Amino acid sequence: MTLKNTSRVAALVAAAAAALLSASATAQATKLKVGLMLPYTGTFAALGVAIENGFRLNVAEQGGKLAGREIEFVKVDDESDPAKATDNVNKLIKRDNVDVIVGTVHSGVAMAMAKAAKDNGTMLIVPNAGADAVTGPMCANHIFRSSFSNWQPGYAMGEVVAKKGHKKVVTITWKYAAGDESVKGFREAFEKGGGQVVKELSLPFPGVEFQALLTEIASIKPDAVYTFFAGGGAVKFVKDYAAAGLKKTIPLYGAGFLTDGTLEAQGADADGLLTTLHYGDSLETPRDKAFRLEYVKAYRLQPDVYAVQGYDAAQMLAIGLKAVNGDISKKADFAAAVEKAKIDSPRGAFTLGKSHNPVQDIYLRQVVGKENKVIGVASKSLADPGRGCRM
Ligand code: PHB
Repeated sequence: MTLKNTSRVAALVAAAAAALLSASATAQATKLKVGLMLPYTGTFAALGVAIENGFRLNVAEQGGKLAGREIEFVKVDDESDPAKATDNVNKLIKRDNVDVIVGTVHSGVAMAMAKAAKDNGTMLIVPNAGADAVTGPMCANHIFRSSFSNWQPGYAMGEVVAKKGHKKVVTITWKYAAGDESVKGFREAFEKGGGQVVKELSLPFPGVEFQALLTEIASIKPDAVYTFFAGGGAVKFVKDYAAAGLKKTIPLYGAGFLTDGTLEAQGADADGLLTTLHYGDSLETPRDKAFRLEYVKAYRLQPDVYAVQGYDAAQMLAIGLKAVNGDISKKADFAAAVEKAKIDSPRGAFTLGKSHNPVQDIYLRQVVGKENKVIGVASKSLADPGRGCRM
């Protein structure tokens, strides 16, 4: 190479470096647009609020900025309505040009969001919805989950109920992805452990007309019942189960959403219930104590699993963002950083599996008063199998 060429190359390199620096400086200077797509009305309204609260608490703890970038929120109420999901998510992506989407609660809505995120290459962090497909066939290097897969709490409870020696179980849930997959996970472990699911009962989401189904359970007389309900529907189900006289005769087990964020409203009807979940109210670790103190200070409310998942979504975003100096367009580097991180969650530190779903302890909890008291670990470091994910 001639001297002239060498200096031309050097000049080009310097110019490119300057352009890169200024791009990253611009990225740093502008606000990071976070699209919050959550339910603010309907049976999951309280869950959406808790997720947003948790997310905002973590941002506040980081001085109101993530990796040096201020945050601008754009909010959409998805109403937990899959029929409106594609339009809603496209508003965030195409009209508002958000940098990252955080959402949602409902599995059917989340699947539409994952599809749009894939089609448009938009970063997505799912702070609740357990749809197995999101970290299964729909997985992508820019899609992450800070919560769980529907399979996880179901599978853990299947093992618990089998170990208790129950043989015949009836399941009852809403007929949609979350209910179906929670029951499937339960069934997989329960039948492996020698039990049998004798009947799968369901009703359309978000229906709460449980009476006919409770009558059917009473006539089948199974050894136990396994259920997935959440939010307002879970409150009504637990109350109706007790009112029907079933609580005294047929033990009820659930994925922990049945009693999370719901105990004030369920009162004594929830007392004693056993559930499995990746969080509980009595972990008594310094990390969780600090989180709970700050949450109560900020919102005058007790946190629940949804608040934790929102909090951790912000932690994951911050980890990725720091690794790319605030430039979220660098998806591969963002993903690499989150993949190797240990996320310091109030639930206990966790890592992400290959399909970007948390590998985490699933606790066995029992309702005591207004608390989901942790009485053991049902499944240690449980990883979703990530079936169908190729990344
Ligand atoms: C879901 O639809 O995936 C879902 C909804 C509410 C929960 C948990 C899972 O509490």
